[in-house]
Amino acid sequence: MKPTTKPENPLFSSGPCPKRPGWSLNNLQHALLGRSHRSSPGKKKLAEAIDRTRNLLQLPDDYRVGIVPASDTGAMEIALWSLLGQRGVDLLAWESFGSGWINDVVNQLKLDDVNHLEADYGQLPDLKKVNFENDVVFVWNGTTSGVKVPNGDWISTARKGLTICDATSAVFAMPLPWEKLDVVTYSWQKVLGGEAAHGMLILSPRAVARLESWSPPWPMPKLFRLTKGGKLNEGIFRGATINTPSMLCVEDYLDALKWAESAGGLNGLIERSQKNLKVVENWVEETEWIDFLAEERETRSNTSVCLKIIDRWFTSQSLDQQTVIIKKMVTLLEQEKAAFDIESYRDAPPGLRIWCGATIESSDLEYLMPWLDWVYLQVKEEK
Ligand SMILES: Cc1ncc(COP(=O)(O)O)c(C=O)c1O
Repeated sequence: MKPTTKPENPLFSSGPCPKRPGWSLNNLQHALLGRSHRSSPGKKKLAEAIDRTRNLLQLPDDYRVGIVPASDTGAMEIALWSLLGQRGVDLLAWESFGSGWINDVVNQLKLDDVNHLEADYGQLPDLKKVNFENDVVFVWNGTTSGVKVPNGDWISTARKGLTICDATSAVFAMPLPWEKLDVVTYSWQKVLGGEAAHGMLILSPRAVARLESWSPPWPMPKLFRLTKGGKLNEGIFRGATINTPSMLCVEDYLDALKWAESAGGLNGLIERSQKNLKVVENWVEETEWIDFLAEERETRSNTSVCLKIIDRWFTSQSLDQQTVIIKKMVTLLEQEKAAFDIESYRDAPPGLRIWCGATIESSDLEYLMPWLDWVYLQVKEEK
Protein backbone atom coordinates (compact mmCIF):
# COMPACT_ATOMS: atom_id res chain seq x y z
CA MET A 1 0.00 0.00 0.00
CA LYS A 2 1.25 3.44 -0.84
CA PRO A 3 1.84 5.35 2.40
CA THR A 4 -0.43 8.30 2.96
CA THR A 5 1.88 10.40 5.13
CA LYS A 6 5.18 11.89 4.05
CA PRO A 7 8.08 13.13 6.13
CA GLU A 8 7.47 16.75 7.02
CA ASN A 9 11.04 17.39 5.96
CA PRO A 10 12.00 14.85 3.26
CA LEU A 11 15.69 15.91 3.16
CA PHE A 12 18.06 13.15 4.25
CA SER A 13 21.29 14.01 2.41
CA SER A 14 24.64 13.06 3.95
CA GLY A 15 26.21 16.34 2.94
CA PRO A 16 25.26 19.11 2.91
CA CYS A 17 23.06 17.75 5.67
CA PRO A 18 19.60 19.08 6.46
CA LYS A 19 19.24 22.38 8.28
CA ARG A 20 18.28 22.35 11.93
CA PRO A 21 14.55 22.16 12.77
CA GLY A 22 13.03 25.64 12.56
CA TRP A 23 15.84 27.08 10.42
CA SER A 24 14.97 30.17 8.41
CA LEU A 25 16.94 32.62 6.32
CA ASN A 26 15.55 35.33 8.64
CA ASN A 27 17.79 34.01 11.39
CA LEU A 28 20.80 35.29 9.47
CA GLN A 29 19.68 38.91 9.39
CA HIS A 30 22.43 39.96 11.80
CA ALA A 31 25.19 38.59 9.56
CA LEU A 32 28.07 41.01 9.25
CA LEU A 33 27.73 41.49 5.51
CA GLY A 34 29.80 44.00 3.58
CA ARG A 35 32.12 44.52 6.53
CA SER A 36 35.68 43.40 7.01
CA HIS A 37 36.16 40.12 8.85
CA ARG A 38 39.14 41.85 10.45
CA SER A 39 37.01 44.67 11.87
CA SER A 40 36.27 44.50 15.55
CA PRO A 41 32.70 43.10 15.11
CA GLY A 42 34.03 40.70 12.44
CA LYS A 43 36.70 39.34 14.77
CA LYS A 44 34.09 39.05 17.51
CA LYS A 45 31.82 36.86 15.36
CA LEU A 46 34.70 34.57 14.38
CA ALA A 47 35.91 34.30 17.97
CA GLU A 48 32.35 33.52 19.07
CA ALA A 49 32.20 30.66 16.54
CA ILE A 50 35.41 29.26 18.00
CA ASP A 51 34.37 29.71 21.64
CA ARG A 52 30.92 28.18 21.18
CA THR A 53 32.50 25.24 19.34
CA ARG A 54 34.98 24.71 22.16
CA ASN A 55 32.25 24.78 24.81
CA LEU A 56 29.81 22.61 22.94
CA LEU A 57 32.42 19.95 22.16
CA GLN A 58 33.80 20.12 25.73
CA LEU A 59 37.35 20.41 24.42
CA PRO A 60 40.35 20.31 26.75
CA ASP A 61 41.46 23.89 27.56
CA ASP A 62 44.83 23.46 25.87
CA TYR A 63 43.39 22.39 22.49
CA ARG A 64 43.34 24.99 19.67
CA VAL A 65 40.31 25.47 17.41
CA GLY A 66 40.78 27.19 14.05
CA ILE A 67 38.56 28.14 11.12
CA VAL A 68 40.30 27.29 7.85
CA PRO A 69 39.53 27.45 4.12
CA ALA A 70 38.07 24.73 1.91
CA SER A 71 35.80 22.79 4.20
CA ASP A 72 36.83 19.46 5.73
CA THR A 73 39.13 18.64 2.83
CA GLY A 74 40.94 21.91 3.41
CA ALA A 75 41.35 21.22 7.12
CA MET A 76 42.62 17.68 6.51
CA GLU A 77 45.03 18.68 3.76
CA ILE A 78 46.41 21.53 5.88
CA ALA A 79 47.06 18.96 8.62
CA LEU A 80 48.61 16.33 6.33
CA TRP A 81 50.84 18.82 4.51
CA SER A 82 51.91 20.59 7.72
CA LEU A 83 52.50 17.66 10.05
CA LEU A 84 53.53 14.55 8.13
CA GLY A 85 56.98 13.47 7.04
CA GLN A 86 58.78 13.42 10.37
CA ARG A 87 58.02 9.77 11.04
CA GLY A 88 56.28 6.81 9.38
CA VAL A 89 52.54 6.91 8.81
CA ASP A 90 49.82 4.32 9.37
CA LEU A 91 47.03 4.95 6.89
CA LEU A 92 43.63 3.49 7.70
CA ALA A 93 40.83 3.25 5.16
CA TRP A 94 37.58 1.33 4.87
CA GLU A 95 35.72 3.51 2.38
CA SER A 96 36.17 6.29 -0.12
CA PHE A 97 37.22 9.24 2.05
CA GLY A 98 39.88 7.27 3.95
CA SER A 99 41.19 6.07 0.58
CA GLY A 100 41.34 9.69 -0.54
CA TRP A 101 43.69 10.56 2.32
CA ILE A 102 45.89 7.59 1.40
CA ASN A 103 46.06 8.96 -2.11
CA ASP A 104 47.17 12.35 -0.77
CA VAL A 105 49.91 10.88 1.39
CA VAL A 106 51.23 8.32 -1.07
CA ASN A 107 50.75 10.00 -4.46
CA GLN A 108 50.95 13.70 -3.65
CA LEU A 109 53.24 13.94 -0.60
CA LYS A 110 54.99 10.80 -1.91
CA LEU A 111 55.83 9.45 1.55
CA ASP A 112 57.17 5.91 1.37
CA ASP A 113 57.43 4.93 5.02
CA VAL A 114 53.74 4.08 5.10
CA ASN A 115 51.73 1.21 6.44
CA HIS A 116 48.31 0.54 4.87
CA LEU A 117 45.49 -0.87 6.96
CA GLU A 118 42.51 -1.22 4.69
CA ALA A 119 39.17 -3.00 4.69
CA ASP A 120 36.27 -3.37 2.31
CA TYR A 121 32.95 -1.52 2.54
CA GLY A 122 31.08 -2.76 5.61
CA GLN A 123 34.18 -3.69 7.60
CA LEU A 124 36.93 -2.08 9.66
CA PRO A 125 40.62 -2.94 9.38
CA ASP A 126 42.21 -4.71 12.36
CA LEU A 127 42.72 -1.76 14.71
CA LYS A 128 44.99 -3.86 16.93
CA LYS A 129 47.59 -3.70 14.17
CA VAL A 130 47.97 0.09 14.25
CA ASN A 131 51.52 1.15 15.08
CA PHE A 132 51.41 4.22 17.32
CA GLU A 133 55.13 4.85 16.88
CA ASN A 134 53.90 6.22 13.56
CA ASP A 135 51.51 9.06 12.79
CA VAL A 136 48.05 7.62 12.19
CA VAL A 137 45.58 9.02 9.65
CA PHE A 138 41.96 7.86 9.76
CA VAL A 139 38.32 8.80 9.37
CA TRP A 140 36.23 8.42 12.55
CA ASN A 141 33.01 7.72 10.67
CA GLY A 142 33.22 6.41 7.13
CA THR A 143 30.47 8.48 5.57
CA THR A 144 30.21 6.32 2.46
CA SER A 145 30.02 2.90 4.16
CA GLY A 146 28.26 3.80 7.38
CA VAL A 147 31.06 2.18 9.38
CA LYS A 148 32.58 4.03 12.33
CA VAL A 149 35.25 3.13 14.82
CA PRO A 150 33.27 2.03 17.89
CA ASN A 151 35.34 4.08 20.37
CA GLY A 152 38.90 5.20 21.03
CA ASP A 153 40.00 2.22 23.14
CA TRP A 154 42.35 1.08 20.36
CA ILE A 155 44.29 4.37 20.42
CA SER A 156 47.40 4.33 22.60
CA THR A 157 47.76 7.03 25.25
CA ALA A 158 51.54 6.42 25.08
CA ARG A 159 51.63 7.04 21.32
CA LYS A 160 54.76 8.56 19.80
CA GLY A 161 53.09 9.63 16.56
CA LEU A 162 50.13 11.95 16.07
CA THR A 163 46.58 10.79 15.51
CA ILE A 164 45.05 12.77 12.63
CA CYS A 165 41.31 12.19 12.48
CA ASP A 166 38.82 13.30 9.84
CA ALA A 167 35.71 13.41 12.02
CA THR A 168 33.43 15.40 9.78
CA SER A 169 30.44 13.08 10.06
CA ALA A 170 31.13 12.17 13.69
CA VAL A 171 31.71 15.41 15.55
CA PHE A 172 28.51 16.60 17.33
CA ALA A 173 27.02 13.12 16.93
CA MET A 174 29.44 10.69 18.56
CA PRO A 175 31.56 10.98 21.71
CA LEU A 176 35.19 11.64 20.78
CA PRO A 177 38.10 10.88 23.15
CA TRP A 178 39.86 14.23 22.76
CA GLU A 179 42.97 13.26 24.75
CA LYS A 180 43.63 10.54 22.18
CA LEU A 181 43.14 12.77 19.15
CA ASP A 182 45.86 15.21 18.08
CA VAL A 183 44.14 16.59 15.02
CA VAL A 184 40.39 16.60 14.40
CA THR A 185 38.75 18.12 11.34
CA TYR A 186 35.20 18.71 10.24
CA SER A 187 33.04 21.03 8.16
CA TRP A 188 30.00 23.15 8.97
CA GLN A 189 27.57 21.53 6.57
CA LYS A 190 27.71 18.10 8.18
CA VAL A 191 26.17 17.24 11.54
CA LEU A 192 24.93 20.75 12.35
CA GLY A 193 23.65 21.40 8.82
CA GLY A 194 25.50 24.70 8.46
CA GLU A 195 26.47 26.30 5.16
CA ALA A 196 29.38 24.67 3.34
CA ALA A 197 32.56 26.69 2.93
CA HIS A 198 34.87 26.50 5.89
CA GLY A 199 36.69 23.74 7.69
CA MET A 200 37.45 23.38 11.37
CA LEU A 201 40.88 22.32 12.54
CA ILE A 202 41.32 21.23 16.16
CA LEU A 203 44.87 20.70 17.41
CA SER A 204 46.23 19.09 20.58
CA PRO A 205 49.36 20.51 22.26
CA ARG A 206 51.30 17.58 20.75
CA ALA A 207 50.23 18.64 17.25
CA VAL A 208 51.32 22.21 18.01
CA ALA A 209 54.69 20.93 19.28
CA ARG A 210 55.14 19.07 15.97
CA LEU A 211 54.32 22.21 13.99
CA GLU A 212 56.90 24.18 15.93
CA SER A 213 59.64 21.56 15.68
CA TRP A 214 59.21 20.17 12.16
CA SER A 215 59.48 21.83 8.78
CA PRO A 216 58.32 19.58 5.96
CA PRO A 217 60.59 19.49 2.89
CA TRP A 218 57.81 20.26 0.40
CA PRO A 219 56.50 23.70 -0.60
CA MET A 220 53.66 25.01 1.55
CA PRO A 221 50.91 27.09 -0.09
CA LYS A 222 49.96 30.22 1.81
CA LEU A 223 46.53 28.66 2.50
CA PHE A 224 48.21 25.83 4.44
CA ARG A 225 50.63 27.86 6.55
CA LEU A 226 49.93 27.44 10.27
CA THR A 227 53.26 28.79 11.51
CA LYS A 228 55.10 32.08 11.30
CA GLY A 229 58.83 32.21 12.01
CA GLY A 230 58.73 28.65 13.34
CA LYS A 231 55.98 29.40 15.89
CA LEU A 232 52.28 28.60 15.70
CA ASN A 233 50.29 31.43 14.14
CA GLU A 234 48.01 31.77 17.18
CA GLY A 235 45.84 34.34 15.41
CA ILE A 236 44.29 31.60 13.24
CA PHE A 237 42.98 30.00 16.43
CA ARG A 238 41.41 33.22 17.64
CA GLY A 239 39.54 33.98 14.44
CA ALA A 240 42.17 35.82 12.37
CA THR A 241 41.56 33.47 9.45
CA ILE A 242 44.24 32.84 6.81
CA ASN A 243 42.06 34.34 4.07
CA THR A 244 38.59 35.86 3.79
CA PRO A 245 35.70 33.84 5.23
CA SER A 246 32.03 34.24 4.30
CA MET A 247 30.40 36.11 7.15
CA LEU A 248 27.04 34.77 5.97
CA CYS A 249 28.31 31.22 6.53
CA VAL A 250 29.75 32.30 9.88
CA GLU A 251 26.34 33.62 10.92
CA ASP A 252 24.71 30.39 9.84
CA TYR A 253 27.25 28.33 11.81
CA LEU A 254 26.56 30.50 14.87
CA ASP A 255 22.84 29.87 14.38
CA ALA A 256 23.52 26.11 14.22
CA LEU A 257 25.67 26.23 17.35
CA LYS A 258 23.01 28.14 19.29
CA TRP A 259 20.38 25.62 18.22
CA ALA A 260 22.71 22.80 19.32
CA GLU A 261 23.06 24.42 22.74
CA SER A 262 19.28 24.66 23.05
CA ALA A 263 18.88 21.03 21.95
CA GLY A 264 20.72 19.77 25.02
CA GLY A 265 24.31 20.42 23.97
CA LEU A 266 26.59 17.60 22.91
CA ASN A 267 24.69 14.90 24.80
CA GLY A 268 21.40 16.13 23.39
CA LEU A 269 22.78 15.98 19.85
CA ILE A 270 24.17 12.48 20.35
CA GLU A 271 20.85 11.31 21.79
CA ARG A 272 18.90 12.76 18.87
CA SER A 273 21.13 10.95 16.41
CA GLN A 274 20.96 7.66 18.35
CA LYS A 275 17.19 7.90 18.47
CA ASN A 276 17.16 8.40 14.71
CA LEU A 277 19.32 5.33 14.15
CA LYS A 278 16.96 3.33 16.37
CA VAL A 279 14.04 4.10 14.04
CA VAL A 280 15.99 2.65 11.10
CA GLU A 281 17.17 -0.29 13.21
CA ASN A 282 13.63 -1.19 14.20
CA TRP A 283 12.53 -1.13 10.59
CA VAL A 284 15.54 -3.14 9.34
CA GLU A 285 14.88 -5.74 12.02
CA GLU A 286 11.38 -6.40 10.77
CA THR A 287 12.18 -6.06 7.05
CA GLU A 288 13.50 -9.00 5.09
CA TRP A 289 14.87 -7.31 2.01
CA ILE A 290 17.32 -4.92 3.65
CA ASP A 291 20.25 -4.87 6.05
CA PHE A 292 23.00 -2.53 7.26
CA LEU A 293 26.15 -2.37 5.18
CA ALA A 294 28.12 -2.27 8.44
CA GLU A 295 28.71 -5.88 9.40
CA GLU A 296 29.18 -5.34 13.14
CA ARG A 297 26.57 -3.64 15.26
CA GLU A 298 29.11 -1.66 17.27
CA THR A 299 30.56 -0.14 14.10
CA ARG A 300 27.17 0.93 12.74
CA SER A 301 27.13 4.66 12.08
CA ASN A 302 24.42 6.75 13.71
CA THR A 303 24.85 9.55 11.17
CA SER A 304 25.45 8.23 7.64
CA VAL A 305 23.33 5.11 7.84
CA CYS A 306 24.15 2.88 4.86
CA LEU A 307 21.84 0.06 3.87
CA LYS A 308 22.24 -2.81 1.43
CA ILE A 309 19.50 -4.80 -0.26
CA ILE A 310 19.82 -8.50 0.55
CA ASP A 311 16.77 -9.78 -1.32
CA ARG A 312 17.73 -12.52 -3.82
CA TRP A 313 16.03 -10.78 -6.75
CA PHE A 314 18.33 -7.78 -6.20
CA THR A 315 21.56 -9.60 -5.32
CA SER A 316 21.28 -11.83 -8.39
CA GLN A 317 21.49 -8.79 -10.69
CA SER A 318 24.73 -7.41 -12.12
CA LEU A 319 26.30 -4.43 -10.34
CA ASP A 320 25.17 -2.15 -13.18
CA GLN A 321 21.62 -3.45 -12.93
CA GLN A 322 21.66 -2.95 -9.16
CA THR A 323 22.68 0.66 -9.69
CA VAL A 324 19.80 1.11 -12.15
CA ILE A 325 17.35 -0.30 -9.62
CA ILE A 326 18.59 2.00 -6.85
CA LYS A 327 18.35 4.97 -9.19
CA LYS A 328 14.76 4.06 -10.03
CA MET A 329 13.94 3.83 -6.33
CA VAL A 330 15.43 7.18 -5.40
CA THR A 331 13.90 8.88 -8.44
CA LEU A 332 10.46 7.61 -7.49
CA LEU A 333 10.94 8.77 -3.91
CA GLU A 334 11.99 12.20 -5.14
CA GLN A 335 8.99 12.41 -7.46
CA GLU A 336 6.77 11.60 -4.51
CA LYS A 337 8.67 14.15 -2.38
CA ALA A 338 9.07 11.43 0.22
CA ALA A 339 12.88 11.49 0.34
CA PHE A 340 15.72 13.31 -1.38
CA ASP A 341 19.37 12.33 -1.84
CA ILE A 342 19.33 8.89 -0.24
CA GLU A 343 21.28 7.03 -2.92
CA SER A 344 24.54 5.47 -1.71
CA TYR A 345 27.77 7.35 -2.54
CA ARG A 346 29.06 6.86 -6.09
CA ASP A 347 32.10 4.76 -5.01
CA ALA A 348 30.15 2.62 -2.52
CA PRO A 349 28.19 -0.57 -3.30
CA PRO A 350 24.71 0.24 -4.69
CA GLY A 351 22.33 0.85 -1.80
CA LEU A 352 20.67 3.53 0.27
CA ARG A 353 22.22 6.08 2.62
CA ILE A 354 20.01 7.94 5.03
CA TRP A 355 21.39 10.76 7.15
CA CYS A 356 20.39 10.33 10.78
CA GLY A 357 22.36 13.18 12.38
CA ALA A 358 21.03 15.53 15.00
CA THR A 359 19.18 17.90 12.65
CA ILE A 360 16.84 15.11 11.53
CA GLU A 361 13.57 14.61 13.39
CA SER A 362 12.95 10.96 14.30
CA SER A 363 9.28 11.39 13.34
CA ASP A 364 10.38 12.07 9.76
CA LEU A 365 12.31 8.80 9.72
CA GLU A 366 9.22 7.02 11.05
CA TYR A 367 7.30 8.44 8.09
CA LEU A 368 10.06 7.52 5.65
CA MET A 369 10.36 3.81 6.45
CA PRO A 370 7.02 2.69 4.89
CA TRP A 371 7.99 4.61 1.74
CA LEU A 372 11.09 2.47 1.40
CA ASP A 373 9.00 -0.71 1.53
CA TRP A 374 6.62 0.75 -0.99
CA VAL A 375 9.28 1.90 -3.44
CA TYR A 376 11.17 -1.38 -3.37
CA LEU A 377 8.00 -3.29 -4.20
CA GLN A 378 7.24 -0.85 -7.02
CA VAL A 379 10.55 -1.42 -8.80
CA LYS A 380 10.56 -5.15 -8.10
CA GLU A 381 7.08 -5.64 -9.53
CA GLU A 382 7.97 -3.53 -12.54
CA LYS A 383 10.56 -6.12 -13.61
C1 LIG B 1 34.55 11.56 6.00
C2 LIG B 1 34.57 12.69 5.03
N1 LIG B 1 35.74 13.27 4.72
C3 LIG B 1 35.81 14.31 3.86
C4 LIG B 1 34.69 14.78 3.24
C5 LIG B 1 34.81 15.96 2.30
O1 LIG B 1 34.29 17.01 2.98
P1 LIG B 1 34.22 18.51 2.41
O2 LIG B 1 33.33 18.47 1.23
O3 LIG B 1 33.67 19.26 3.58
O4 LIG B 1 35.60 18.92 2.08
C6 LIG B 1 33.44 14.21 3.51
C7 LIG B 1 32.24 14.69 2.81
O5 LIG B 1 31.22 14.04 2.76
C8 LIG B 1 33.39 13.15 4.43
O6 LIG B 1 32.21 12.59 4.74
